[in-house]
Amino acid sequence: MRRQIAIIGAGPAGMFLAHLLHAEGIEATVIERRDRPYVEGRVRAGVLEQGTVGLLRRLGLAGRLEREGLVHGGTNVSIDGRVFRIDMAALTGGATVTVYGQQEVMRDLFDAAELRGLDIRWNASDVALTGLDGDRPVVTWREGDAARRLTCDFVVGCDGYHGVSRAAIPASVLRTFERVYPFGWLGVLADVPPADHELVYANHERGFALASMRSPTRSRYYIQCGLNEDIGDWSDDRFWDELCLRLGSETAAKVTRGKSFEKSIAPLRSFVVEPMRWGRLFLAGDAAHIVPPTGAKGMNLAVSDVTMLGEALSEHYREGSDAGIDGYSARALARVWKAERFSWWFTSVTHRFPTMDGFDRRIQIAELDYLRGSPAAQRSLAENYVGLPLEAA
Ligand code: PHB
Repeated sequence: MRRQIAIIGAGPAGMFLAHLLHAEGIEATVIERRDRPYVEGRVRAGVLEQGTVGLLRRLGLAGRLEREGLVHGGTNVSIDGRVFRIDMAALTGGATVTVYGQQEVMRDLFDAAELRGLDIRWNASDVALTGLDGDRPVVTWREGDAARRLTCDFVVGCDGYHGVSRAAIPASVLRTFERVYPFGWLGVLADVPPADHELVYANHERGFALASMRSPTRSRYYIQCGLNEDIGDWSDDRFWDELCLRLGSETAAKVTRGKSFEKSIAPLRSFVVEPMRWGRLFLAGDAAHIVPPTGAKGMNLAVSDVTMLGEALSEHYREGSDAGIDGYSARALARVWKAERFSWWFTSVTHRFPTMDGFDRRIQIAELDYLRGSPAAQRSLAENYVGLPLEAA
């Protein structure tokens, strides 16, 4: 097979890029290790920045989003049960975020991919990348008993933190930056109405809690937990009790309890590799960087990466200019690092760290108290939360 672009991975980065390239008339094949139900079933975050919503619209994929997405102009922060609201729309000249689960985004991307005839190879095993530092990269894989081989101009690694793409870059070329947090998030989905029409981020003496949602009838809640905790020790009753304690009485009074149908623990990590390009391989999304979920930036960062990469590749094929391709890594990393900073900061001021002493706790409370009283501090949070603009090329 011969294609202009090989995309490794059919998660958000890979599928947004596949649609972007299709719209530009650039031929691509997406090679995915799992099947569609698996990729679509993965429960992830659900807050879309303005830019992500804008891209879905530009690609003609926003029909269901416009009907079902919940537009939020503000968000709430709670310190030991005292709640205040940050009016993000007022502080940013009207910007909002949209609550729409990543699972819904994936469904829309896959449905449209089928209609538009995008080439996706599911259940691809033994994916291997060669010739990345020459001018004819080759991707090989297996589909059942059949061995496949694709020659292309460029490979884009959208295969996540554990994927083969980043691993194909010589270790001597990559610099890794990492912070592992000494806690995780225990997340629950339940078909009960959300506690509030907007999100509540809670810092409590006993640890972080978050009240989120997927729809007017489906709630998504999280509490900070230890890394070695056993999910089996968390009955629904214990979860609801701990959640309500941390949210505080004002928010807890609005929590509807019910049977959970999804419950899992995820570790928190900040991670970046530089550069995001090696020869004819580009990295995008979680293959290049991980953020802790506190800022709800994961999928949005994947989208801004591939937006930049789509522009760069279209410049290459349409104008014969490699300026965009050559600038991709630096341009993407400039935005990645700002999102890393925001996610790290928001995590730092809302979670309980095992090493915290009285001084650290007072500083945390002062930081959030400052946020409560200062429009300048609120504006800084708001402009980061709704999503910083894409850097100029
Ligand atoms: C979610 O709804 O899953 C969610 C929302 C906001 C976050 C993280 C996760 O910061």
